[in-house]
Amino acid sequence: MEDAEKRTIVLGVSGGIACYKAAELVRLLVQEGFSVQVVMTREAMEFVTPLTFQTLSGRPVATETFSLTQESEIGHIRLAGQAHLLVIAPATANIIGKITAGIADDLLTTILMATKAGVLIAPSMNVHMFENPILQENIGKLKALGYHFIEPTEGYLACGYEGKGRLPEPEDILEEIRRLLKKKDLIDERLLITAGPNQEPLDPVRYVSNRSSGKMGYALARVGLRRGAKVTLVSGPTSLVPPSGARLISVRTAAEMREAVLQEFANATAVVMAAAVADYRPEQYVSKKLKRAEGPIVLKLQPNPDILRELGERKNGRILIGFAAETEALVKNATKKLREKHLDLIVANDVTQEGSGFEGDTNAATLMDRKGAVHSLPLMSKEELADRIYDYLIEIRNSR
Ligand code: C5P
Repeated sequence: MEDAEKRTIVLGVSGGIACYKAAELVRLLVQEGFSVQVVMTREAMEFVTPLTFQTLSGRPVATETFSLTQESEIGHIRLAGQAHLLVIAPATANIIGKITAGIADDLLTTILMATKAGVLIAPSMNVHMFENPILQENIGKLKALGYHFIEPTEGYLACGYEGKGRLPEPEDILEEIRRLLKKKDLIDERLLITAGPNQEPLDPVRYVSNRSSGKMGYALARVGLRRGAKVTLVSGPTSLVPPSGARLISVRTAAEMREAVLQEFANATAVVMAAAVADYRPEQYVSKKLKRAEGPIVLKLQPNPDILRELGERKNGRILIGFAAETEALVKNATKKLREKHLDLIVANDVTQEGSGFEGDTNAATLMDRKGAVHSLPLMSKEELADRIYDYLIEIRNSR
């Protein structure tokens, strides 16, 4: 993440049972390079001790407005000014009520009053408290003032009830933080992204497929959403969790993927074909499981339509980005594809290289454009590569 080390999150922890999940959030934030300053309310300290947060954040926890040492070392105005983002997780009905009413009667509410940074609030409470019209009205008012909220999730609540009120998983709060901090330079783009493998059925229990995990396409979707784009994700079968905010269209075969992509193409400003589309499918689908027999059997494969090539023929100003997984003559083969499929950018991987290509979380790619520029990038995470691809997309857009 860009400038992560310079980013300070002030994490306000108010007194709900979900305080323990805030500890995990601190750990994730620190792991990602954020500086985290935890501020606890008096009630929060009844659930978890400051020592837990101090150990995880590596900084003393701020708890009191009028403590002389704390005020000289930290100071509520300085805390308010340092923050790139203020996060309140968990946020009780009480603290949301106080913010809405403009009450600043402890350190956390005073910082909230003094800050100019964005504020993300993660409410967590009993389902009936959450549904209470007073709270809902308060949330509405704060949203109108530009406060950001992450919705509580539904499920079993510590009070014994079932319903909406659970603090979202720390990973999901972290993703929301990343989104809020990211520059929104793709706000005008409607991205159509494909991901994952295809499965071409042979009989009811067997199929032909490839090793694609879908990780690159999903990283492109996550990063695109963070940068403000609208994202439609056409995905083959994967075990990945789709990013919230993306429109997901699940497909299996190349034919289904083609249909979905052609359908969505009209509405897209740019297409990133990260899927490992199956080039061939079994010529015949057998509706009963093939029985084992003596001797070899011959499997005849028919070529699938090349989706990207079809798009290239009717791109009409859209930016088309393709991938090329190669095992030899990387630049030569990828350049050929770029030309033949009328792409604006091709992302080529040498899949024989360690840490590159399928399945892993990293990729080493070479980006090539229509002007003949060749950029070999070092090994990086798939999310970082997604960022580089979008930087390039913006460059292409601006050069038009
Ligand atoms: O020709 P090749 O399959 O290597 O091309 C790779 C690029 O073309 C990828 O972006 C892939 O998603 C896309 N593709 C496609 N339809 C196919 C095969 C590949 O859109 N049938």
